Amino acid sequence: MAFLRSFIATLTILLLLQLAQACGFHSHGERQLEVDFSAIAELNNNARLSLTHSALNKKRNTKIAIDNVRVFDGSRLLSPATVVIDGDVIGTDPTGATQQIDGNGSVLLAGLIDSHVHPANITHLQDLSSFGVTTAFSMACFSPQMCQSLQNHTGLVDIHTSSAPAAAPGSAHGNIILMIDPSGSLLVYNATQATKWVDTQVAWNPDYIKLIAESPGLDQNTLNALVTESHRLGKNAVCHAAAFDAYSQAMTAGVDQIHHVPLDRPITSGIAADVHRKQQISTPTLTMMQAISNNYPSFNYSASRESVRLLHCAGVPILAGTDANLQPGIIANVPFGSSTHLELELLVEAGLSTVDALQAATSRAAKYWGLDDRGVIAPGKRADLLLIDGDPVADIKATRNIRKVWLAGVEYEGTLGTFTE
Ligand SMILES: *[C@@H]1O[C@H](CO)[C@@H](O)[C@H](O)[C@H]1NC(C)=O
Ligand SMILES: *[C@@H]1O[C@H](CO)[C@@H](O)[C@H](O)[C@H]1NC(C)=O
Ligand SMILES: *[C@@H]1O[C@H](CO)[C@@H](O)[C@H](O)[C@H]1NC(C)=O
Ligand SMILES: *[C@@H]1O[C@H](CO)[C@@H](O)[C@H](O)[C@H]1NC(C)=O
Ligand SMILES: *[C@@H]1O[C@H](CO)[C@@H](O)[C@H](O)[C@H]1NC(C)=O
Ligand SMILES: [Zn+2]
Repeated sequence: MAFLRSFIATLTILLLLQLAQACGFHSHGERQLEVDFSAIAELNNNARLSLTHSALNKKRNTKIAIDNVRVFDGSRLLSPATVVIDGDVIGTDPTGATQQIDGNGSVLLAGLIDSHVHPANITHLQDLSSFGVTTAFSMACFSPQMCQSLQNHTGLVDIHTSSAPAAAPGSAHGNIILMIDPSGSLLVYNATQATKWVDTQVAWNPDYIKLIAESPGLDQNTLNALVTESHRLGKNAVCHAAAFDAYSQAMTAGVDQIHHVPLDRPITSGIAADVHRKQQISTPTLTMMQAISNNYPSFNYSASRESVRLLHCAGVPILAGTDANLQPGIIANVPFGSSTHLELELLVEAGLSTVDALQAATSRAAKYWGLDDRGVIAPGKRADLLLIDGDPVADIKATRNIRKVWLAGVEYEGTLGTFTE
């Protein structure tokens, strides 16, 4: 599995090299990474074809009545009632249900949406699912075939996928991209060529375009051109920005979402106001920012948290994302699934109300990713559900008491996620 490990390492290094440079992870692009994307894709695709999955497909057609559950309706908990799962969506009429579940007054949430992850295999999808993450957004794709092999797995988290990341030659991220694709054809050289780069990516129909703002890196004109062409072709542009200067660039370029928050110093209230005025969305990935800062105290997590506070005060919509990835020996690991619950807690610590934090991982995420079919519990919506004990409006950590998970109407059958602390 060496190829898989180096692949995951690459993803994470790619995202964080700008930070990692200061910590001895510097790369000059001399090395070449041998990543066998088609072998990984084959493993994932075989899993989709397996008997387990076809059995799960049949479960999609069943009707389930969950009695005596308090539904979180997006702003508060309702009094106990029955929720019907009818095939892969929420139904209305419990008549003829083939399974009856007593919810015992537990709380039912819409399945969680993690807006920033790096899964590579089925285990990662299982981990996400076992913790009630029912939709997740993969944030760097070097092989369409491999990325698509993580999609459409019945009974597992629904994965959406980005393009390759757009980075400049000679930049930290650009050097890593060269290690994966020595031809240089994935790099973005200038504003003129940026247009063609986006066209090439859109040709395989990623769900959104991923851009990297860093210094040194893409200049402002080139970032602007990447955003303009993405929008012309109907794709959102999602931009990595983990330092103060980069954040400002991403804001100026008019990207749709800015991911991460600076670890060097907080943004200003002026920048937060600009981000709001430009109707940009923030996915701060506080979990990752904290993990890096824990490993390397020269990175200031308080600065990251302060930026989230400023963005939230300015009215910028904030989404829950974790940068989940698994690879020993690199700047910071973030486990799949459990981290989404940690992110909710960190968002609350940064100033969001518990209701705000829950929305960041449900209805607000669905809204800004343009997924009308999920994010709330209502008839006709996808039956992505998380049953928990306790009241998450009173204490956000209640989301951790996981009782059951359904993904598009199919109950998660593996071991459910638990927390040790
Ligand atoms: C409700 O309580 C019963 C009896 O303790 C238990 O068997 C059942 O699993 C509980 N339901 C859920 C959804 O946890
Ligand atoms: C997926 O990768 C993890 C390492 O992150 C490894 O432990 C696990 O066995 C892999 N799963 C599969 C199905 O290859
Ligand atoms: C996933 O399913 C959707 C809807 O059925 C389909 O349009 C898409 O091509 C599938 N993608 C993959 C990678 O199987
Ligand atoms: C932009 O980069 C491309 C690819 O390297 C190159 O062919 C072209 O001459 C450059 N254009 C400008 C205006 O620099
Ligand atoms: C870290 O950031 C916080 C918030 O901006 C600031 O108050 C503190 O002085 C910073 N710490 C260091 C060591 O720079
Ligand atoms: Zn990432």
